[in-house]
Amino acid sequence: MCGIMGYIGDSEPTKIILEGLAKHEYRGYDSAGIAVIKDGAIQEIRTTGRVCQLAEKVKETGFTGEFGIGHTRWATHGGVTENNAHPHISSDDKVVLVHNGIIENAREIRAELEAKGIKFHTETDTESAVQYLGYVYDGDPKGAIVKLTKRIRGAFALVIMFYDKNEEFWVVRKGSPLVVGHAGHEGFCASDPTALLEYTRDVWFMDDDEMAQITREGCKFFDFNGVEHEKKTMHLDWDSAMTSRGEYAHFMLKEIHEQPDVMTHTLLGRVANNEVDLSRELDWTPEQVKGWKKIHFVACGTSHYATMIAARIMETLGNFEIRTEVASEYRYMNIPIGPDTLAIFVSQSGETADTLHAARLAMSKGAKCLVITNVRGSTIHREVGDALVTPAGPEIGVAATKTFTAQITILTLLGLYMAKLRGELLPEPEKNLVGALMDIPAKLSRILDQEKVIEQIARNFADARGFFFIGRGLAYPPALEGALKLKEISYLHAEAYPAGEMKHGPIALLDKELPVVALVPKGFLWEKTISNIEESMARKSPIIAIATEGDEEIKHYSENVIYTPATEPELFPFIAVIPLQLFAYYVARQRGCDIDMPRNLAKSVTVE
Ligand code: G6P
Repeated sequence: MCGIMGYIGDSEPTKIILEGLAKHEYRGYDSAGIAVIKDGAIQEIRTTGRVCQLAEKVKETGFTGEFGIGHTRWATHGGVTENNAHPHISSDDKVVLVHNGIIENAREIRAELEAKGIKFHTETDTESAVQYLGYVYDGDPKGAIVKLTKRIRGAFALVIMFYDKNEEFWVVRKGSPLVVGHAGHEGFCASDPTALLEYTRDVWFMDDDEMAQITREGCKFFDFNGVEHEKKTMHLDWDSAMTSRGEYAHFMLKEIHEQPDVMTHTLLGRVANNEVDLSRELDWTPEQVKGWKKIHFVACGTSHYATMIAARIMETLGNFEIRTEVASEYRYMNIPIGPDTLAIFVSQSGETADTLHAARLAMSKGAKCLVITNVRGSTIHREVGDALVTPAGPEIGVAATKTFTAQITILTLLGLYMAKLRGELLPEPEKNLVGALMDIPAKLSRILDQEKVIEQIARNFADARGFFFIGRGLAYPPALEGALKLKEISYLHAEAYPAGEMKHGPIALLDKELPVVALVPKGFLWEKTISNIEESMARKSPIIAIATEGDEEIKHYSENVIYTPATEPELFPFIAVIPLQLFAYYVARQRGCDIDMPRNLAKSVTVE
């Protein structure tokens, strides 16, 4: 939700800021702007639309300055207009800032300042912060920011410049992500560390209730009372090449293709001789693991569907009592959470506000908490501590793909490991399943070889009114993910149902314009799913089948079959998801949608 960037150094600031904002666009892309300090005054340039439009405007006008800050917006308060775009400047032209988050008491502050005669110019919550700063600023930035942090409530990452401070900018964090870097005589800040990879891989992740002064000489960190403290850098294990699109038309397509490698990397160092070993990352004893009577999986969006798959796989491995909940609901459920609970929070970004708040709740109730994240050093990782980090590399496409595969891989390993520590998994089934898992990356490559077939089927159906996705057992959660991918990037209505549930209502919607994507792997539920396919066909719905190689019979039911390699029944979700991702991708491409930056979405949702 909104991306922010700040730069001070000897390079052209607009260039660095524009490049940084482009890397943040997945966080919001309805408007963008830059402010600089030039000749002792604040100047700014803003536009609705994308960062590339801002870049055009910067070029046309020759806009430049000594150092600056920038923003790409995902509107929360106030419409998408140039006037509401950040940066925002105080009415007295003394302070300028960019903001990611929500200021909850903005109305109250606005009323108070308007009563003092200060004129507001926008509909945003952010303006209350900048006007307040302008009002209290008396030449001491730190003092003014300390006052601000005591006055505003909500979530905020702020980057601030003062008109008369020609050698510094300030950053403030509570609740929204912010990372700071320094290299040579250059200081940076960004919402996302990927924007800093080109300049430095040793960064400071700002903590809540922390602020910093960034100058050419270095960075100084303070708490919200203005007391300075030392802070350690964290080394990023990504590099800038990972953030390039390469030969692919979209990041999403590149990331879909990376999945065999990502899965191999995820297994690496965690399995040996067909056995799972997570002891390097988790110092859990069998007694501890046996003591966790309840397992709660908590996540949002695609990560939530990954947990549904994990839960179903784990249930086949041991005697687990598992709940899977979306984070925004978990927080308000009246369910017992305590020391006998293992709460597992799954978040690609590690910054999703709903998941983070749910984790804080579980920690406060004494649950044992574990995080699965793709971003080492992300907020949830730092706060919870215990983590399994997925090595998928930066994921830029807004629709999650490779991180999903990494998540289900690591969660399956976790299930195996826990079942083993609990004494519920015998060596033989462990070896079989780990062996089968290690075969999956090659099978994923074989599915990718069928890209042309999937593309053609997707083209045939790109004008459909909507889609149903159906599956039974372990084919149901991937159906949910397939439907989510399609709606996220093609804007078509897509719904997933357990195949057997269609007859209890949704079947009323079926007709020849509403295709059904049926996940129908060979196995004991094949016949039952075929019955549901027949029911759909009787209502004239075209069928797209995801079936197992060698299944010739399926051709009686569908002319549109995507074959997937056979695997252990528990591992079918790994196999099912790539055809569904490619299907969504090519439907969206045929419809001319903006695949990497779908409307209304943001990759990292840092508001509740
Ligand atoms: C947003 C994104 C989804 C993502 C979800 C959870 O809604 O648009 O693609 O699955 O957040 O993100 P997380 O980073 O917590 O996995």
